[in-house]
Amino acid sequence: MRAVDIIARKRDGLELTSAEIEFFVRGFTEGRIADYQASAWCMAVLLRGMTAREATDLTLTMAYSGHVLDLSSVAAVVADKHSTGGVGDKTTLVVAPLVACLGVPVGKMSGRGLSFTGGTIDKLESIPGYRATLTEAQFKRQLAGHGIVVAGQSAELAPADGQLYALRDVTATVESLPLIASSIMSKKIAAGANVIVLDVKVGSGAFLKTATEAEQLAELMIAIGRSVDRRVAAVIADMSQPLGRAVGNALEVREAIEVLQGGGPADLRDHCLTLASLILVLAGTHPTQAASRADLERALDDGRAWRKFVEWITAQGGVPSVVEQPARLPTARLVEDLPSPRDGFIEQVDAQQVGMATVLLGAGREKKGDAVDHAVGVVLHKKVGDPVAAGEPLLTVHANDSDRLAAARAALLDVFHWSETPPPRPAHLHRIIGAPDADR
Ligand code: URA
Repeated sequence: MRAVDIIARKRDGLELTSAEIEFFVRGFTEGRIADYQASAWCMAVLLRGMTAREATDLTLTMAYSGHVLDLSSVAAVVADKHSTGGVGDKTTLVVAPLVACLGVPVGKMSGRGLSFTGGTIDKLESIPGYRATLTEAQFKRQLAGHGIVVAGQSAELAPADGQLYALRDVTATVESLPLIASSIMSKKIAAGANVIVLDVKVGSGAFLKTATEAEQLAELMIAIGRSVDRRVAAVIADMSQPLGRAVGNALEVREAIEVLQGGGPADLRDHCLTLASLILVLAGTHPTQAASRADLERALDDGRAWRKFVEWITAQGGVPSVVEQPARLPTARLVEDLPSPRDGFIEQVDAQQVGMATVLLGAGREKKGDAVDHAVGVVLHKKVGDPVAAGEPLLTVHANDSDRLAAARAALLDVFHWSETPPPRPAHLHRIIGAPDADR
């Protein structure tokens, strides 16, 4: 078999065999197939698509490119959640400790920033000392000792995804249904959780722009997970504007801390409660999402979720005094408001453009292996439906470099669209697929 023939077959729209997929993924992971060939193959997959069978084979080959954890000696039920990627999506930082503080262990492998969306690992690494690269033994020890662990891909766990993800980020090959499904589900399978909630984002700030595509992705990932005996459900959530107000690594950690302390933006809190309540139902601790919600709200409001967060971060090497005093998280040198040019109501906030502006500021990567600037980003003061007067700040930009600030300012000018009358606020939750309590 030759890599070039497999690329050509996919370029020509043919269905790859299981053996071809395995040859390609293993060859790439083990260094026999070059980055440029893998990039060409990803582009062929993006343009030509894959059948459900190919996507399942790809996922399982990627999952088994390293070890697949067996967590049964640690806990009978281990939960995980994963977002398909969205601008301002910091929900893992809230949902993981929230679920864990109610006694359901969370074992999670997260990603770094991808294209115009941020990644949980980059966010966590804005906390000095946080260790995202764990060995299998460390992952299990952290889970057994604290009921919560969040790590990045490693040479041991799903290395194929680690390598493909970094390539896709900088080769315009993210927006592919089978590549997203296999990337997410290979990590989920390798990390060993048996309860998985998928947060599938749709809209301008997501990789999938239509509800139909988002539903297809959700169904595909649920089918892949169930084929290996995982309990899986998916939330289809709006990403037509950023989630919460902060976009950028340390800025998002600060906002997550606000939610963990009982405050924070209402849309972010509500979405975290939706995801956490679905996890609890799948884990079997509560019969319905409605029944679990009151317990989850109490855990946010009485400090249990916050205390679990501090315990988790400290156990993974993060400096506790930094999260306890979030002003000590990385901060940018240049802070500038963008004033509104007119009166009116905000009709639209282009989330993708906000995400692109934060990449221009240095919060994401332009080429593989780039370092990210944890301090930079954007904080929105106005969201869809809000009234605004001329001169009022629409957002604040946090930058560390004046050229980057100028580029981001230019990109941000077109983010807002106005109307004369109050537009409806977008419904945050579109639908839930596969919830066990749907019929109750
Ligand atoms: N999250 C992932 O882990 N992979 C993708 O491809 C998209 C979002």
